[in-house]
Amino acid sequence: MKIFSIYNIKGGVGKTTSTVNLAYSSAAEGVSTLVWDLDPQGATSYYLCHKVGIPGGVKGLMQKKNPVEDRIKSSGYPNLDLFPADASYRYFDQYFAEANKPDGCLKKMIKPLRDTYKRLFLDCPPGLSLLSENILRVTDVLLIPLIPTPLSLRSYNRLVRHLAKNKKLKMRVVPFFNMVNTNNSVHRIIAKNVCGKHPIFAKQSIPHSNVIEAMGVKRAPLAIYAPDSDENLALTTLWREILKRLE
Ligand SMILES: Nc1ncnc2c1ncn2[C@@H]1O[C@H](COP(=O)(O)OP(=O)(O)O)[C@@H](O)[C@H]1O
Ligand SMILES: [Mg+2]
Repeated sequence: MKIFSIYNIKGGVGKTTSTVNLAYSSAAEGVSTLVWDLDPQGATSYYLCHKVGIPGGVKGLMQKKNPVEDRIKSSGYPNLDLFPADASYRYFDQYFAEANKPDGCLKKMIKPLRDTYKRLFLDCPPGLSLLSENILRVTDVLLIPLIPTPLSLRSYNRLVRHLAKNKKLKMRVVPFFNMVNTNNSVHRIIAKNVCGKHPIFAKQSIPHSNVIEAMGVKRAPLAIYAPDSDENLALTTLWREILKRLE
C-alpha cells in the first residue's frame, strides 16, 4: 500500500479539496483507494457525504481490540472508501504522547489496512504536531498544496527545513500550486519563478475557480459534477504527473 499524505503546515490551502479529487482519480483507475479524514473538522467526510464520527473515537483506535477496518465506509464511488473524521481527533497528540512509541502510533493503526488497499490518502490537519510527525513517518508521497503567495512560500520553506532535519524520513515530495489566480501578478510571478527554478514543484497547477469552490455545495468530487471542465483536466493532469514521478 502506498500512502499519499496531503499536508501543509498552513490551513486553507486546498488540502481537503485536493485529497478528495486526487483520491477519486486514483479510484477511477480501478485501484482500491481509501481516504482517511484525519482532520477533526471533517471536511473530507462532508465532501463525501458522510457524518463525522467513528465508534470509540481516538481512544478506541488506540486499543488493539477495536480493529480500524470496522470504521470504514463506502464513498458510493467504485474503489473509493472513507475512514471518517471524528471530533476526538483533536486529542490525537494527547493519546500519542502517552503511548510507548509516540511517533509510531499511526503506523500501528494503519497496519491492518495494508493488505486491503493499494493506496491510502491522508487528509491532514495543518500545523506541526505529534500527529504530523506520525503522518510523516508513514508517508510514501507527500503532496503539498500551496497558494503562490509569499506567506505560503514561507511556511513551505519551514516545512522543507523540518523535513531536512529528520534524516529518517524517506518520502517523495511533490509540492504544487493551488488556487492560482492568473489575474493576480503576485500569483503569476511566484508560480512562474518557483516552478521554473525548482523542478520538485509539479508543472501542473490548479486554478482558483468557482467550479472547484462548488464542491462544498455539490458534496462530490469535481469529476462527478464537472467532468469536462478545464479544472477537472488540471486535476487529472496533476494526478498523472504525480504518478509519473513514482515510476
Ligand atoms: N482551486 C480552488 N479554487 C477555488 N476555491 C478553492 C480551491 N481549492 C480550495 N478552495 C476552497 O478554499 C477553501 C479551503 O480549501 P480546503 O481544501 O478546505 O483547504 P485546507 O484543507 O488546506 O484547509 C474551501 O472553501 C475550498 O472550497
Ligand atoms: Mg482541510
